Amino acid sequence: MRPLGVLVLVLGVTGGIFYWTTRAAEKPAPPPPAPQVTEQPKQPAYTEGTASPDGIGKFFHGREISQVMGHPGIGWLERDEREQEEAPTRAIKALELPKDAVIADIGAGSGYYAFRISPQVPDGKVIAVDIQPEMLTFLKDRAKQLSITNVEPHLGTIDDLKLPDASLDAALLVDAYHEFSHPAEMLASMHRALKPGGRVFLLEFRAEDPRVPIKPLHKMTEAQARLEFEAAGFRFISNRRQLPWQHFMVFGK
Ligand SMILES: C[S@@+](CC[C@H](N)C(=O)[O-])C[C@H]1O[C@@H](n2cnc3c(N)ncnc32)[C@H](O)[C@@H]1O
Repeated sequence: MRPLGVLVLVLGVTGGIFYWTTRAAEKPAPPPPAPQVTEQPKQPAYTEGTASPDGIGKFFHGREISQVMGHPGIGWLERDEREQEEAPTRAIKALELPKDAVIADIGAGSGYYAFRISPQVPDGKVIAVDIQPEMLTFLKDRAKQLSITNVEPHLGTIDDLKLPDASLDAALLVDAYHEFSHPAEMLASMHRALKPGGRVFLLEFRAEDPRVPIKPLHKMTEAQARLEFEAAGFRFISNRRQLPWQHFMVFGK
């Protein structure tokens, strides 16, 4: 081979090597190894413990859930002193519902609140949700007696409202939430059933006030209610301190 041929060959080979090594350097760097994630043990939603006389031995965020008030308690729900103890007229006015609002009274019982709310929503309705069929029978009979057509008795289950998604403008829970045996599931169900911007009105006897003559498991503190609702994705809006014995807490979706 002539010297010129040798030179061309050498240049060609080194050029090729240079090209390939440069291309290799241009290749994107391999992705960094995935960070090591240590599995966090999931906090159980519920814990079990010794049941208090009126509790069920099941705890949610540290609060023992109370036993459900059975339908023989309808007489107590309909007691005359309620206006003086709970000021329901004032509470209902403070809901400030538009005439066409659809509101669920969750844990409606005999419908003490539902029937008093119905005139506020002549173009809407009150869905009176309960898990006890006896309460629903009472609600249906009472609606007939009063000729009220915009209170709709509705059977839910212990962990599901059984209402369509985004169908409610508001939800009201009076002296009921503390006895839900599956509050986490009920909160999720409520969240789904509310329209965006929907409100929850939570009325519970004030546990901070020893003068409120109600058994401890049937009362709640504002801090506890906020803990449970905020963990479920609700936004605390206010606690209107205007009722004799109860908190009047407002949460938004
Ligand atoms: C103490 S009563 C209050 C009734 C009514 N809110 C009032 O203030 O007159 C509570 C009601 O909640 C109902 N309840 C309990 N768990 C429920 C649930 N998961 N869903 C709907 N209602 C429930 C009970 O059946 C009972 O009728």
